Amino acid sequence: MKPINVGLMGVGTVGGGTATVLKRNAEEISRRAGRSIRLFIAANRDAERARAVCGDEVIVVDDAFRIVDHPEVDIVVELIGGTDIARDLVLKAIANGKHVVTANKKLLAEHGNEIFARAQEKGVMVAFEAAVAGGIPIIKALREGLTANRIESIAGIINGTSNFILSEMREKGANFADVLAEAQRLGYAEADPTFDIEGHDAGHKLTIMAAIAFGIPMRFESCYLEGISQLTAKDIAYAEELGYRVKLLGLTRRTDSGVELRVHPTLIPESRLLANVNGVKNAVLVNGDAVGPTLYYGAGAGALPTASAVVADIVDVTRLLTADPEHRVPHLAFQPDQLQDLPILPIEEVVSSYYLRIQAIDRAGVLANITRILAEHGISIEAVIQKGAVGDGAAEVVILTHRVREKYANQAIADIEALDSVAGPVVRLRMEELNG
Ligand code: HSE
Repeated sequence: MKPINVGLMGVGTVGGGTATVLKRNAEEISRRAGRSIRLFIAANRDAERARAVCGDEVIVVDDAFRIVDHPEVDIVVELIGGTDIARDLVLKAIANGKHVVTANKKLLAEHGNEIFARAQEKGVMVAFEAAVAGGIPIIKALREGLTANRIESIAGIINGTSNFILSEMREKGANFADVLAEAQRLGYAEADPTFDIEGHDAGHKLTIMAAIAFGIPMRFESCYLEGISQLTAKDIAYAEELGYRVKLLGLTRRTDSGVELRVHPTLIPESRLLANVNGVKNAVLVNGDAVGPTLYYGAGAGALPTASAVVADIVDVTRLLTADPEHRVPHLAFQPDQLQDLPILPIEEVVSSYYLRIQAIDRAGVLANITRILAEHGISIEAVIQKGAVGDGAAEVVILTHRVREKYANQAIADIEALDSVAGPVVRLRMEELNG
């Protein structure tokens, strides 16, 4: 049988890993796919690098449009990233009737609705296992392994850079800026780390998982994003004293009034497995009504782990090439005409518990005033600690609350900040028990 010809667009870290895995495991891969799969053509701005990585038997070009237009290419692999050229290339490949494999979470979260609609019209597959949590087969698990379930919620550590920074801040008591500099030195964080540390990358991945879990369109524009750059080592230490770890979580949950879709630093009990996912690793906790909680753990980035997901998609597409489009697994797990545009809840409507750190004057009645305000807003307290004077008769009060709708927590925080005896803004972190 004729081999499947792969066109690789982008020979950077993941592209290089993909070329390596396709070559190194060629025999195993063809035994699994039922035919051989070869890297036929590669495009990279630096064609010399592509030549060095891919070898002499591969055609190398510097213009990726030559790949999407090449009549002999069966599967286009998009590893360029971003949404400008990548979007044009993917849409052109689809228009040309080619199947697409991509690791591009931003492209799918922001333009996925358009891309999947075009792919549906043309009867081609768009596979994207590598777009979420690198080498962890979470898309396959959500879309196929858990297909019997009504999925209720997903909570994931899905940005390795942020998780590395938070792990180091906790272990070393170091501040954010120092650890970020260390992460950049080690190559874990980009020179411009905004995308990772402010929650955008996690938001893209969460958007994709929510779409597959609930059968909704991609709604990245409604995803609440809050990053880790404002976190202090002090709050991480206080959280730990109270039995919690702080993680940048992507959370999506089905509720009666809509879907929660939010990324923010979150206190989680230290006994949870997720709380113990450290360094650059990723993990995703999925709750299904039949299966209960399931947890997926592994490398969320890196050349070979991400290539593992890219090549798995190439094999999947190869196996399904001869299947009628209607007999393939739908892109978003649900049949396209069965997607439901459920409302995404604004963050003010989300119900959560809170960690509050309040800087107050150390005198009689201050704590009573704070707890009175919380009670007035119907907020019940789970734990309180007061830390010794932090100077000039000031003290810090740390309060853990029970669950409350965010808008009521905001009102209470504003009232607390207005007290004469309170100095500066209240530090507020959300807290999730994650107990199913
Ligand atoms: N930059 C991401 C991370 C990996 O830090 O996890 C690619 O999405």
